[in-house]
Amino acid sequence: MNKEFRIFPEQASRLAGQVDLIYYVLTGLSIFFALLIFFLIYVFAVRYRRRSEDEVPSQIPGLLQLELAWSIIPLGICLVIFVWGARLYFQTYSPPREAYEIHVVGKQWMWHIQHPNGKREINELHVPTGEPIKLTMATEDVIHSFYVPAFRTKKDVVPGRYATMWFEAIKPGEYHLFCAEYCGTKHSQMIGKVVVMDPADYQQWLSGGESNDPPAVAGEKQFQQIGCVTCHGEKPGSRGPSLKGVFGSEVTLQGGQTVIANEEYLRESILKPNAKTVAGYQALMPTYQGQISEANLLQIVAYLKALKK
Ligand code: CUA
Repeated sequence: MNKEFRIFPEQASRLAGQVDLIYYVLTGLSIFFALLIFFLIYVFAVRYRRRSEDEVPSQIPGLLQLELAWSIIPLGICLVIFVWGARLYFQTYSPPREAYEIHVVGKQWMWHIQHPNGKREINELHVPTGEPIKLTMATEDVIHSFYVPAFRTKKDVVPGRYATMWFEAIKPGEYHLFCAEYCGTKHSQMIGKVVVMDPADYQQWLSGGESNDPPAVAGEKQFQQIGCVTCHGEKPGSRGPSLKGVFGSEVTLQGGQTVIANEEYLRESILKPNAKTVAGYQALMPTYQGQISEANLLQIVAYLKALKK
């Protein structure tokens, strides 16, 4: 772990340099205008001071050009910052489609991580360089926040929904991983590290150690075990809709509205089945709230995502 003190923190992701640049420009602009204003206060105070007891100041009419200048120039600067910041924000928070997906579950007070081949780790996240990594995150209890300063990205993981974040690591090494949301007694110990490796080293690391079922396979087992398959099987006359190819499709609900079946929808339909009932079916499904852990839920969702028509 890198413990030396740095004024400019290490940039270890593809967008880190751009985030820093906007920060330095904002700081520079603030310093520039603060100094300019202080300087002008002193200049004006000296230059336009009252020189005798009975001095009467002359009336100064407005100067249109000057007023336009000090309205339009700051407006322009603010708009540039706004567009620049908004573009970078959307880039930072919209994962590329083809990103490599890793599951993260926050829990008082640790991070559980599962890789696509099933490999698990705690408070450590191994990733390869040069590939966009998408983290799909959930929490078992309270709000946690996944924060990797060297990547300049941070995301709150809020109970009851999935959070996603992404980054592309560019430099092998070990970097701090923090929980950046106060989450109870041992919040300050909810720390870990991100280990960035060359892709070949990562593959080697991934295949080492004990093996677990990949999330989709583990999800299929859950699907059988807790009995989802009884109603959502492929037999004709099943009480629930078939779930083949459901992920990403448009689902028509009772009442005629439609929703896109994304991760959030699948999750909600398992925990609160009657929130959105599919057209043509009765609201018969029991809730699974409190009966499935977030880690298992992520696996079931992974299984449903993999179920192609
Ligand atoms: Cu988890 Cu703070």
